[in-house]
Amino acid sequence: MDVVVIGSGSWGSAFARHLSRRDHSVTVVTQTVAEATELAERRENRAFLPGIRLPDGIAFVAMAEAEIDAAELVVYAVPTQAVREVAAWVAPRRAADSLQLSLAKGFELGSLERPTEVIREVTGAPAAALSGPNHAEEIGRDMPSATVIASYDITVAERLQRVVAGDSLRVYTNDDVLGVESCGAMKNPIAVAVGMSDGLGFGDNSRAALMTRGLAEITRLGLAQGARFETFSGLAGIGDLIATCTSRHSRNRRAGELLAGGATPDEAAALVGQVVEGFPTTYALHDLAARYGVELPVTENVHEVLEGRRTPSDCVAVLMGREPKRE
Ligand SMILES: NC(=O)c1ccc[n+]([C@@H]2O[C@H](COP(=O)([O-])OP(=O)(O)OC[C@H]3O[C@@H](n4cnc5c(N)ncnc54)[C@H](O)[C@@H]3O)[C@@H](O)[C@H]2O)c1
Repeated sequence: MDVVVIGSGSWGSAFARHLSRRDHSVTVVTQTVAEATELAERRENRAFLPGIRLPDGIAFVAMAEAEIDAAELVVYAVPTQAVREVAAWVAPRRAADSLQLSLAKGFELGSLERPTEVIREVTGAPAAALSGPNHAEEIGRDMPSATVIASYDITVAERLQRVVAGDSLRVYTNDDVLGVESCGAMKNPIAVAVGMSDGLGFGDNSRAALMTRGLAEITRLGLAQGARFETFSGLAGIGDLIATCTSRHSRNRRAGELLAGGATPDEAAALVGQVVEGFPTTYALHDLAARYGVELPVTENVHEVLEGRRTPSDCVAVLMGREPKRE
């Protein structure tokens, strides 16, 4: 298949490598000409995915020069807040029958829309979402992984499943796009909270409590929006939550650790050096929780820290001091 991957960060690079090794014709669209030139010459993404060779078959082209009218599949591998801008670039250039696949995990600030909603609104094409416990650093090394491709049109999900699945990446389909995308977004603030707990020197009990109660609030908000319950116990739900909250690769968890060490949110994001989706997602969830009248205690505490109204230590007292509840 002729595939265009927009975004040459860590996930775009790893995903493009994976597709290229599946014998697809892959072009990565970069933001700048300098990036395209460097990636084509070095065949390594030193900034975002060091130590992993990118196959010779991948073409790298800057947005200013790229043509995508021959692409059968357009992949959005950019931060959630950039999806609208990228979709606006895609809209007049794409083939009318091209498939759209979002890899982004978050909600757009302001509109509170999911990436596939933004893509559909801007390009007029329905979009599928890929989400699951998939660290680029591991997919880039062909470590066995599993993921979910969600589309309201299950035949599209099945077609993309055949395109993406490989020896080291098992792909499941799901038609609960809302649930799959919401899970992928909502686990990030929980990972920030876990990182804060780790950074404060707490242990496995604290981490397990935050993850479990985090899943409870993710499920609560997801169900209120209309997601399906089973999605939360799937790869895009608990699977991704486990990976993000326990991994050394997780930027959101790392950002939480930095906050616990006294960094401001801006300092933490700068030190991580790549998009920390958990920060904007926390703000979006704060608004979504109000819209749906749902309580998100863990995410709300992260929100208070990002707003500078609470320290990570304060959050411990707040969470432990909540009124007693039934599980
Ligand atoms: N890294 C992972 O392991 C991983 C895994 C699953 C999902 N994701 C999700 O994929 C998305 C991208 O993550 P990433 O890790 O690749 O981020 P990254 O920070 O490594 O890279 C982001 C890329 O997007 C490009 N970009 C940013 N704004 C742009 C714009 N306006 N127009 C064009 N390009 C733009 C940047 O140049 C960069 O190449 C995020 O939503 C993330 O949550 C990441």
